[in-house]
Amino acid sequence: MNSNIRPENMTRITTKELAEAFIDEQVRLVREQVGDKKVLLALSGGVDSSVVAALLIKAIGKQLVSVHVNHGLMRKGESEQVIEIFEKGLNANLVYVDASERFLNLLAGVSEPEKKRKIIGAEFINVFAEEASKLEGIEFLAQGTIYPDILESIKQAEGKKAVKSHHNVGGLPEDLQFELVEPLKLLFKDEVRVVGEALGLPHGMVYRQPFPGPGLGVRCLGAITRDRLEALREADAILRDEFDKCGLAEKVWQYFIAIPDIKSVGVKDESRYEGWPAIIRAVNTTDAMSATIEEIPYAVLHKITARITAEVDGINRVLYDLTPKPTGTIEWE
Ligand code: XMP
Repeated sequence: MNSNIRPENMTRITTKELAEAFIDEQVRLVREQVGDKKVLLALSGGVDSSVVAALLIKAIGKQLVSVHVNHGLMRKGESEQVIEIFEKGLNANLVYVDASERFLNLLAGVSEPEKKRKIIGAEFINVFAEEASKLEGIEFLAQGTIYPDILESIKQAEGKKAVKSHHNVGGLPEDLQFELVEPLKLLFKDEVRVVGEALGLPHGMVYRQPFPGPGLGVRCLGAITRDRLEALREADAILRDEFDKCGLAEKVWQYFIAIPDIKSVGVKDESRYEGWPAIIRAVNTTDAMSATIEEIPYAVLHKITARITAEVDGINRVLYDLTPKPTGTIEWE
């Protein structure tokens, strides 16, 4: 598939059988494109890069080198899951880079949201390019580009302004020019998920909620500190656990915790207890351009509040953000 335009008569991939036919065709095309050369992939663990990885492993096995950069802003257990599924489960040629220290050092004291985004995006490319330069014989770069990304670039080329600078692995240095392998570029997200399941990826990975490239970095508001980031990671894991348990994970498009850089006075064990507030954000949307607030049962909110305040060091209040988009954006930064 050379064209970047989805043909009007292209069948939507809605069933396992259609996905299998798509996979067979892509395996053939990728083998034809790549031959016996090596392909590099930035594997974030998100839906798109994971499905590309599984597809390319099927097509070319260890000729695919997947690099997973842990920028220290991943959710709890996320990098471990990537290693478990791809290295142990699919026998991938996986390079795991723990770059947490580098990112956190660069971000120390930086509070301006766009500056934080730029630092994370640029450092991600630095780390990825460094790893790429250590590898021999790579001629191709695989990307989890999907059709909405192509439509978005067309919109931007037409001069429409983006609200936030999104982070993707574009913009690699000029001396690292590879030919691209983008097997999902004509698919919509729901089709990518069907393909992912047909490739044997776990349901939880394929249907996981979107997670921004800068990760928890845009949810640990203002200047990131290690203690507040850790509190955020733990509180977010509790929110996700409770949403899973009561079935909300299937009904709410995106849900997470944000923690602002303020403390309030509280009380714990009969003593003054200054802590941060954890803010729950849970939104529904179809295209992320606007978003609505779903009703979360009070019992669930109480349970989450009780667990976060009891289990997470440094948090003494839990707040619920009722703001739709607009005027809020989905993320707080
Ligand atoms: P906002 O906050 O702009 O978010 O309403 C809309 C959707 O985009 C996600 N988001 C990102 N995704 N890289 C991404 O890949 C980014 O830098 C980024 N920033 C925000 C956000 O989580 C929401 O789903």
